[in-house]
Amino acid sequence: MQYKRILLKLSGEALMGDKHYGIDPNRLKQYAKEIKEVTNKGIELAIVIGGGNIFRGVAGASNGMDRVQGDHMGMLATCINGLALQSALEDEGVYTRLQTAIEIKEMAEPYIKRKAIRHLEKGRVVIFGAGTGNPYFTTDTAAVLRAIEINADAILKGTRVDGIYTADPEKDKKAIKFDTITFKDVLKKGLKVMDMTAFTLSEENKLPIIVFDMNTNGNLLKLVSGEQIGTIVNH
Ligand code: GTP
Repeated sequence: MQYKRILLKLSGEALMGDKHYGIDPNRLKQYAKEIKEVTNKGIELAIVIGGGNIFRGVAGASNGMDRVQGDHMGMLATCINGLALQSALEDEGVYTRLQTAIEIKEMAEPYIKRKAIRHLEKGRVVIFGAGTGNPYFTTDTAAVLRAIEINADAILKGTRVDGIYTADPEKDKKAIKFDTITFKDVLKKGLKVMDMTAFTLSEENKLPIIVFDMNTNGNLLKLVSGEQIGTIVNH
């Protein structure tokens, strides 16, 4: 196995599946099964999940809502997704712990780095909810931050495109995919991988980012087994 400990970033939107809002139980089940396969290989896995399928702070702000208020709603959305994912994983027999950056301690453990690492060492999947616990930070930034804190070997960003392209592949048919690219080249070419806060944090801490298509069955397992899947951003 190429990786011992990874942080998987899942988008909230992806959980919608074919729906326009909320959580698609089939998609959730598919993710749980894929995650189980990876943990079965003995890989330590932590997860940060977005909340865009329920609420996006930025969208709220553009509709006149206070940004901080909107971001707080978004953080709660990530907790809802975290609880759903925890439940789906436990249905598959995977041991999990949910830790949140904002205390909701009747529902989940508070985020404690040392406890998170201990859980991982014991083979539990740790889901981090409520982003970084601060407004103005994305869940991508939360994912990079947690990945660094727990000493993950890489951050795996599951998306609906299968990597980083020279242009948006959904708009430009001639776009070409990179297998690997450096942090510097991503910036030079003006490509979008994550927001700048998340990207810079990753670069400064030499945390490789792998962008891959999480919606193709088996991709996650192939990736952690060392197959060339998606695009890796590295130094
Ligand atoms: P170890 O004993 O170190 O292996 O970890 P553990 O997570 O099994 O022990 P702990 O006694 O901390 O937790 C037992 C259960 O209670 C687990 O399901 C935890 O997720 C849960 N738990 C622990 N702390 C909290 C908390 O503050 N709030 C909530 N809601 N659950 C908690």
